[in-house]
Amino acid sequence: MSETKKPLRSEAWFARQDKMGFYYRSWLKNRGFPQDQFDGRPVIGICNTWSELTPCNSHFRTIAEHVRWGVLEAGGFPLEFPVMSLGETMLRPTAMLYRNLAAMDVEESIRANPLDGVVLLMGCDKTTPALLMGAASVDIPTIGISGGPMLRGVYKGRHIGSGTNTISMSEQLRSGQITLEEYHEAEACMHRSHGHCMTMGTASTMACMVEALGVGMPGNAAIPAVDARRNLLAREAGRRIVEMVRQDIVLSRILTREAFENAIRVNGGIGGSTNAVVHLIAMARRIGVDLGLEDWDRLGRDVPCLVDLMPSGRFLMEDFFEAGGLPVVIRELGERGLINKDALTVNGRTIWENNAAVECWNREVIHAFDKPFKPSGGIAVLRGNLAPDGAVLKPSAASPHLMKHTGRAVVFESIEDLHARINDDALDIDETCVMVLKNCGPKGYPGMAEVGNMPLPPKLLKRGITDMIRISDARMSGTAYGTVVLHTAPEAAAGGPLALVENGDLITLDVEARSLHLHVDATELDRRRAAWTPPAPHAGRGYVKLYVDHVLQADAGCDLDFLVGRSGAAVPRDNH
Ligand code: FES
Ligand code: MG
Repeated sequence: MSETKKPLRSEAWFARQDKMGFYYRSWLKNRGFPQDQFDGRPVIGICNTWSELTPCNSHFRTIAEHVRWGVLEAGGFPLEFPVMSLGETMLRPTAMLYRNLAAMDVEESIRANPLDGVVLLMGCDKTTPALLMGAASVDIPTIGISGGPMLRGVYKGRHIGSGTNTISMSEQLRSGQITLEEYHEAEACMHRSHGHCMTMGTASTMACMVEALGVGMPGNAAIPAVDARRNLLAREAGRRIVEMVRQDIVLSRILTREAFENAIRVNGGIGGSTNAVVHLIAMARRIGVDLGLEDWDRLGRDVPCLVDLMPSGRFLMEDFFEAGGLPVVIRELGERGLINKDALTVNGRTIWENNAAVECWNREVIHAFDKPFKPSGGIAVLRGNLAPDGAVLKPSAASPHLMKHTGRAVVFESIEDLHARINDDALDIDETCVMVLKNCGPKGYPGMAEVGNMPLPPKLLKRGITDMIRISDARMSGTAYGTVVLHTAPEAAAGGPLALVENGDLITLDVEARSLHLHVDATELDRRRAAWTPPAPHAGRGYVKLYVDHVLQADAGCDLDFLVGRSGAAVPRDNH
């Protein structure tokens, strides 16, 4: 690809020989940058989400150093900057409440600074979509680097996975199968290295999306955080971003509709997290691609799940990496015509040029397309009078016997209501019931918390019941499993039909027919709607008020309405 003669953004800061040039250069010289550093070389931002409060990104100072070396080697000028970091395990009420705030930080930080290209360091769940959404609204040359998954968790000689075994061990503790001492010991055994969750949860799914979208370097998804090859990848990305600036390969050349279609298909192939649905829709609509729930159902429907990873299967990301990683999945799908092969990736080659010749080293971990791990890895989009704007379910994590089922609703008005009553043996519930949880959506929680995989009643757990149909307007952790209907839109707090469900109503889930039906007639629903009052507002001021007033529903990606689209990279006016 040829080099562009387009002036660099940074020239508007550094090529000036007036008072403003003094401002822009002089303060940077306190870091030891000599005059010749301002000779028109590409300035590369290293956008870092390092934070001690985001344990999954705690090694990002090291990754940033490797990117810096790569940028220098290619003749660029690296400048690292922090943005709001979102730690999934610490932030309350949910990291998702702040995804859009972090995206605003990223967008404005890139545009307002003298940056010609940017490398995004992303790991823990929300950091990936937040950074890509923000960068998409600016649209300069961009490479995403994921921090990589942790090593396998190992407890009593057995491999344990982030989140997935947290959930199962919590249930074992509640039902008395393990002691509190064992529980505490397992905490340190599960997360024993740098990196993000090492199941195919949301972070690993989003790292796969980065690679499948072509916005990350080949191999980005699965190299463990502590493997030297993660540092090599960072260094190569640092070199490459300088070339991308010289060739003017902006983000919108990478994040095309074809790229998003590839990502959705790959999500099917990996049995990826339902959270990817909201994040990819939001990212696409930032860059100007009109992606919707229909695309998820249509494109993912015939894609088998090829990888045997937790939460749906047995293995962990380290096994996935050793088996060949995401390139093998892309090759398997591409050989069946399920990949748009000409999609450009950040290394300057097409997705197919990157992946056509890769080999699989372990068919137990990554199955061949014609001998898949599970027949369906995609996301089922359900509609009906209970979800006029859609709801989602991950068939590969659900129980076959519940995929077509009618049951009696047991309703919880809030997560607190559920926690207060779920352990009560007097609760009128059995395994044929449908658990319904309200007011956990974007406006309702607020932030659409990962509480959709409701804990089952202990009295049923003790009888060996491991799954029931659960319906809510919440999300669920990508590390969770079960026959769980999520993202019901419109949400209860916005007056969606979910708000009108009462104990004893019959609900039918039919995944094959993609339907979710509440057996209550329209007249009765109208009567209930007239009597419904919206929940009290969460905040009278501040970001939470801004968020609740402007957040879009799950089918539109939960972005803030005024953030959809892009404003571009035009250089703002001088500051003095
Ligand atoms: Fe950070 Fe899972 S908690 S990736
Ligand atoms: Mg999560």
